[in-house]
Amino acid sequence: MPSMPRNLTHLTLATLLLSGALSPAPLLAKPAAESAPVDSTGWEKPDPKMDRFIADLMAKMTLEEKIGQLSLLTSDWDSTGPTMRKGYQEDIRKGRIGSIFNAFTARYTRDLQRLAVEETRLKIPLLFGYDVVHGHRTIFPISLGEAASWDLNAIEKSARISAAEAAAEGLHWTFAPMVDIARDPRWGRVSEGAGEDVYLGSRIAEARVRGFQGSDLKATDTILATVKHFAAYGAAQAGRDYNTVDISERTLRDIYLPPFKAAADAGAATFMTSFNEYDGIPASGNHYLLTDVLRDKWGFKGFVVTDYTSINEMVAHGYSKDLKQAGEQAINAGVDMDMQGAVYMENLAKSVAEGKVDVARIDAAVKAILEMKYRLGLFDDPYRYSDEAREKATVYRADFLDAARDVARKSMVLLKNDGALPLAASAKSIAVIGPLGDSKADMIGSWAAAGDRKTRPVTLLEGMQARAPKGQIVAYAKGASYAFEDSGKTDGFAEAIALAQKSDVIVAAMGERWDMTGEAASRTSLDLPGNQQALLEELKKTGKPIILVLMSGRPNSIEWANDHVDAILEAWYPGTMGGHAIADVLYGDYNPSGKLPITFPRNVGQVPIFHDMKNTGRPIDPAQPNAKYVSRYLNTPNTPLYPFGYGLSYTSFTYSPVTLSKTSIRPGEPLTATVTVTNSGARDGEEVVQLYVRDLVGSVTRPVKELKGFQKLMLKKGESRRVSFTLTDADLAFTRADMSWGSEPGQFKLRVGPSSAEGSEADFELTK
Ligand code: BGC
Repeated sequence: MPSMPRNLTHLTLATLLLSGALSPAPLLAKPAAESAPVDSTGWEKPDPKMDRFIADLMAKMTLEEKIGQLSLLTSDWDSTGPTMRKGYQEDIRKGRIGSIFNAFTARYTRDLQRLAVEETRLKIPLLFGYDVVHGHRTIFPISLGEAASWDLNAIEKSARISAAEAAAEGLHWTFAPMVDIARDPRWGRVSEGAGEDVYLGSRIAEARVRGFQGSDLKATDTILATVKHFAAYGAAQAGRDYNTVDISERTLRDIYLPPFKAAADAGAATFMTSFNEYDGIPASGNHYLLTDVLRDKWGFKGFVVTDYTSINEMVAHGYSKDLKQAGEQAINAGVDMDMQGAVYMENLAKSVAEGKVDVARIDAAVKAILEMKYRLGLFDDPYRYSDEAREKATVYRADFLDAARDVARKSMVLLKNDGALPLAASAKSIAVIGPLGDSKADMIGSWAAAGDRKTRPVTLLEGMQARAPKGQIVAYAKGASYAFEDSGKTDGFAEAIALAQKSDVIVAAMGERWDMTGEAASRTSLDLPGNQQALLEELKKTGKPIILVLMSGRPNSIEWANDHVDAILEAWYPGTMGGHAIADVLYGDYNPSGKLPITFPRNVGQVPIFHDMKNTGRPIDPAQPNAKYVSRYLNTPNTPLYPFGYGLSYTSFTYSPVTLSKTSIRPGEPLTATVTVTNSGARDGEEVVQLYVRDLVGSVTRPVKELKGFQKLMLKKGESRRVSFTLTDADLAFTRADMSWGSEPGQFKLRVGPSSAEGSEADFELTK
């Protein structure tokens, strides 16, 4: 496929426990009834009127018309891959397509909708889908950046605003949230999800579903969510996109599936299959995933769409001998809608005639799709989302842009600060240097939907110039290039060095070009691409303070920078208002509060590296770090450059030792862990207090730590607050040796702190 040139803080654990949210993955071992929905967005309620309406409609449908409802094709505006069929307008007229993607604006969707409701026999409205991932017109930070805010309200709001803009432009359905756990930064799609952690990823998955779908699908500012990519896509071998996945069933259940389960429980209306195989069976033909787990065990009632031509790709996988067999395998596995493959359209009727596919299975798929159209209100008024006046009043609303700026600054992570930040008002001149310093196209990152890359985004330079105190000069020299082919070149260096020499401070804006992350954007190196590192080293020689503002969609290996520059701010791709948000942080108008949702390795050779690893039989003894015959590298420590959950602030926080309400609990009995957090610095600020637990001995080995809760607090300077987390044995559950889900009695260590690598510990016991 081509690259894609297209466009409280946290609830307390106690509250989550009451709502049942903390049963991360009851999966196969637990009957569906035991896993209460977290916060269903409400569409699943029985509706006898709808049932009658759909039964009557389906009674009139021919098999071809039914298969049409199972077919989704792209408009020819935009695509993420080969457009397999031309002439889709004719297909709409003939009832051969039930849904369209990559078509938006009130007028365009209205024109297409007219074909369906005026020119087809049954007048069934079309469903319009699109990748509204981190904004529609107003672009928020990339999803990984939003995750770094650890602010579920902010993340939900971002999805809410994205839905409002998209729904005003005729869209009914977004292909988001992407909830793939991603632990390999070589994989370009780490930028699209919530990072490496199961618990954080699950809470964010719920927040995004609630944000997109709201509490009423009929409202004209809500859209259907799609949880993708089901499943285990993030485990692609060697971080190469679309590659084979080969993980254990236990890892699937404990690591990769929980965010999907959380999203399903939160009421996600649709699921998308993934491109990869799982245990030898491509996801789009995987009955175990799509039917046994998703529908039968989790009770999912929405519909399942494939990823782009992924039914067709089962032939290349070597799982199907031809497209007809692929279609049979997909529908029989549980795929309801075929995205862009035209496999159902071309083959399913024949498969039914040959008895390879049961009409009842097709009926179930059609019903699930028609129900969504009904619940959106499309049978009442097929044009209700395509309203030009609402579109005009909604897109780029001032409060949406303000929210985008706010979420962007909340997403930024201060990785290092030797005192160079916030910028001193006394600095007379600032040199902004680097390919990301004044690049509008890069600000909004990949999967920026209908985001404008040319005029709207505020660049770092523009943001700083708008904010600079009177008399301060902020000048720019690009200096370096991020293009791979430019490594070794030095053309722009002299100009950048000259600017640096006459300035008080250097702000180096470096990282990756926006399309170096996202789909089909895997790398075998995490270094700054092009000649950026070489320029950074030259800038260091000027002796001026250097602040590195990193913009990228993956952890980069920046060990040299960590050792040599004065401050590092990870700004991700911060969105339409990104330049203002960066300036807010650099000038100290906003005190950074983000924490890493993914581990930053020292170099690519440490990958995969993540916080909830296993101990091994030969862990390093900290007293003898260089011992032989232990699990380590000869040339690099085992520790990452920056651990999961890490991030600095312009103030400082001190933690009291953690205390427990008891040291022994029985199943069902709550345990409360409490710390007092004090803002001991000179500024107001926010802190993300994190709770980790280690199960010391299990029927299968357990990770060295697992995140079990977090709370983001605002503390005034000098203020102290008691922070409590409540756990029960349900929070300690995992897939046990016999593959059942549950906790095991034994000893545990619990830690509360500011990151996955710090904090005070306490011991407790779970008895029988
Ligand atoms: C991606 C999906 C996306 C789809 C539709 C595919 O290539 O993998 O994430 O939703 O295209 O644009």
